[in-house]
Amino acid sequence: MTLYQFAKALILEAGKNIRETMDETLHIETKSNPNDLVTNVDKQTEQFLVDRIHQSYPDHEVIGEEGHGHQLSHSQGTTWVIDPIDGTLNFVHQRENFSISIGIFQDDTPYAGFVYDVMNDTLYHAKAGEGAYVGDQSLPQIEDTDLKKSIIGINPNWLTKPKLVDLFHPIVNQSRSARAYGSAALEIVHVVTGRLAAYMTPRLQPWDYAGGLIILNEVGGKGTDFLGEALTIYEPHTVVLANPQLHEDLINHYFKPHQEIIEELHAHHRR
Ligand code: IPD
Ligand code: CA
Ligand code: CA
Repeated sequence: MTLYQFAKALILEAGKNIRETMDETLHIETKSNPNDLVTNVDKQTEQFLVDRIHQSYPDHEVIGEEGHGHQLSHSQGTTWVIDPIDGTLNFVHQRENFSISIGIFQDDTPYAGFVYDVMNDTLYHAKAGEGAYVGDQSLPQIEDTDLKKSIIGINPNWLTKPKLVDLFHPIVNQSRSARAYGSAALEIVHVVTGRLAAYMTPRLQPWDYAGGLIILNEVGGKGTDFLGEALTIYEPHTVVLANPQLHEDLINHYFKPHQEIIEELHAHHRR
């Protein structure tokens, strides 16, 4: 079994395990603030993934949202970047619209990405350089769009924040319309399939975008920080992912003119 086949079978099994817990009572705790939730299922799923990875590949590193590998700042060999449940608020409140996200890197180079929409049993996946798939179906390259004909993904909460409203209001205003789904990884695969023309957010962790970005690259999409710099897997970033034309337009005409606000965000991420 190749590493790709192993990872694909593993994420499907982790999702099946989550579906089987849906009737059980959830244990919910808060993390950094009262709306930042984690459940026993987030923790169990990360532990399940880490244990299985280490049983088969003892030398692989794992960076996981719920506590694994946060000290890493570079890595040689194979690194898995995992979010056991992306969209925990949806998991708790809606019982759907959440995903498992996995990005695998070899010597810091993308190897494969997986985003599993658990309740819809839909797996988006890609091996770098070999195209992107949903299930067994190959996905076409995404099409360029103008902002005025684009539906964009952005969380409306950002528009309530001073400064960020200056950054995002013109973009939302010029777009055809805006949407928020509550799972960054699912929003990225919505860009992959063209349901969204772009997804942007002022702070995202590597486990939120690592898997999705590898898939997006395979359909010709672009993902960088707000100033056009590459996204790394060791720290949070501002993140904009889109079709190439819209990505360039957003960076050059909407983000770069607000460089000061963005540099403040980047300084805050590094603290
Ligand atoms: C969150 C979701 C959400 C995004 C947040 C993430 P979590 O991940 O992806 O859509 O807006 O920035 O932290 O906490 O549910 O894994
Ligand atoms: Ca997440
Ligand atoms: Ca999570």
